[in-house]
Parts: sequence; C-alpha cells; structure tokens
Amino acid sequence: MTDFETIIVERRERVALVTLNRPKALNALNFQVLADLQAAFTEFDRDPAVGAVVITGSAKAFAAGADIKEMAPKTYMDMFLDDAFAGWDRIGCARKPTIAAVAGYALGGGCELAMLCDILIAADTAKFGQPEIGLGIIPGIGGSQRLTRAIGKAKAMDLVLTGRTMDAEEAERAGLVSRIVPADELLDAALTVAATVAGMSLPVAMIAKESVNRAFETTLAEGLRFERRMFHSLFATDDQKEGMAAFVEKRQPANFTHR
Ligand code: CAA
Repeated sequence: MTDFETIIVERRERVALVTLNRPKALNALNFQVLADLQAAFTEFDRDPAVGAVVITGSAKAFAAGADIKEMAPKTYMDMFLDDAFAGWDRIGCARKPTIAAVAGYALGGGCELAMLCDILIAADTAKFGQPEIGLGIIPGIGGSQRLTRAIGKAKAMDLVLTGRTMDAEEAERAGLVSRIVPADELLDAALTVAATVAGMSLPVAMIAKESVNRAFETTLAEGLRFERRMFHSLFATDDQKEGMAAFVEKRQPANFTHR
C-alpha cells in the first residue's frame, strides 16, 4: 500500500482503515487530502483483498471542513475552471462499502465526507454541522443535497442557514447517523461493522450498496425495477447457492466470493 502525505492507510484483514492525519489543522480537507483519498480509493476498488473501508479522524475532529486558509485567496475563475471539489465525487462513487467513524467535529466538508460514506457511526462526542454560511459561502461537497435527503428539509435548513452544530444524539434522531457508541469504543465498533460487511460476498455487498444508493437517484418504480433485476441476477451466483444451502443445512456459509 502506498504511503500518503495526509492520510494513514492500514489493513485489518479485509478492512482498509483510513485515518485522516492533519491534526494541527483539525484534519481540514485540503487538496492534498483529496488527492490522497482519491488515490487510496482507486486502489481499494481495484484490490480484491479489500472488502470494506473505514474512514476516521482524531478524537477532537473527524474533519473541521474544507481548508479555509487554502480556499481564502481563490477567485471565482479559480473555483469554476479548476472545479477541484468535483474530485470528491470519486469518494462518493467508491464501489466497496464505506464506513465513517466520526468523533469530534464533522463540519462543512467533514460532515459532507461522512455523508459520502455508506454507514455513519458516531462517537458520543461527535458534532455535525454545515457552518459555511458564516464564511460567506454554501456547502460545496454536496451538503445542501445529501444532508437534506438524510434529515429532511426542516433540520437541513436550520443547520445550513444558521450554521449551528448538532450533537450525536440529535444526528441519530434525525437519521444522519446509524448508531452512537462511547468515544473510546468508536474504532472497534466501526472495524467490527466493517469486518462483518467484508465477510459477506463482495459482489453481493457491492450490489446491495448500489441498490440502496439507487433510491436517491431515481423514481420508486425505476428503483424497484433495478432492485428486482439485481435480485434475479444473484441467483446466477455461487454465493446464493452456498448461502441458501448453509441455511437449510443449519451451518455458516463457507467460501463466499471475495473477489
Ligand atoms: N480550515 C483550515 N484550518 C482549520 C480549519 C479549516 N476548516 N478548521 C480548523 N483549522 C485550524 C485552525 O485555523 C487552527 O490553526 P492554527 O493553530 O494555525 O490557528 C487549528 O486548526 C485549530 O483550530 P482552532 O484553534 O480553531 O480550534 P478550536 O478548538 O478553537 O475550534 C472549531 C474548533 C470550532 C472546529 C474551529 O476550528 C472552526 O470553526 N473551524 C472551521 C469550521 C468550518 O467553518 N468548516 C467549514 C469549512 S468550509 C467548507 O467545508 C466548504 C465546503 O462545504 C466544501
């Protein structure tokens, strides 16, 4: 695995663990972080030994947003012509399941990065928000769209227009977070969930992810048609034969496809 400047990548069996590593800047997401994450995710999607990915930060900050000091001098033409933030779409398009393990601040781009992941696990210390309005901008990595889909218009408007933060409990009640754990158990909890997912059939997990994501992209009728076709297609796999045989024979499935 390549060495990166701003992230640490480790392997825990079939799980790739990515730790954002700009502690002095509260893991602010500068263009180097984006380049490192893009390269790492390209590698994960190619590597048959990776079944799931966990992204985490520090105890104080998952990430305190896009790097304000780097953005401050940019002009409209810089932003429009470079369109560098579009690179974050690469993370959202990762084909393998991704889990955000969030402690401390997940603000602006940090909240948006967490929302690019499939499962969001929060420590009881987590704080989420889209404070961009206070900087004279709006969210630029999907915050106005993904937050609204996740928690609805009422709360999304409240957060995006006031720039206030919400704690882990409010985030869970609102549907942004799938579970809350004590801060010192966050990484273990996220790695356990990731190992469970990585232990499933890789193609089935990838298709399950794609099917859930389809719900955000299409009408219900089209989404149902997509799901039904995917469901049918899985009966062509060894994993369906093995999974169902194991149930009937009262044993655990063996040898699910991992590549
Ligand atoms: N960009 C650049 N540097 C940042 C940063 C950011 N988003 N967030 C924190 N830092 C830096 C601080 O400048 C400070 O550096 P120095 O020691 O060199 O001064 C260091 O990290 C520690 O931060 P603080 O001293 O501010 O720590 P704190 O505990 O007092 O406050 C905080 C923590 C409330 C998170 C505060 O740092 C903060 O408000 N950060 C900015 C949050 C924000 O506005 N995020 C949105 C960014 S814009 C965006 O993300 C656009 C988009 O949608 C793509």
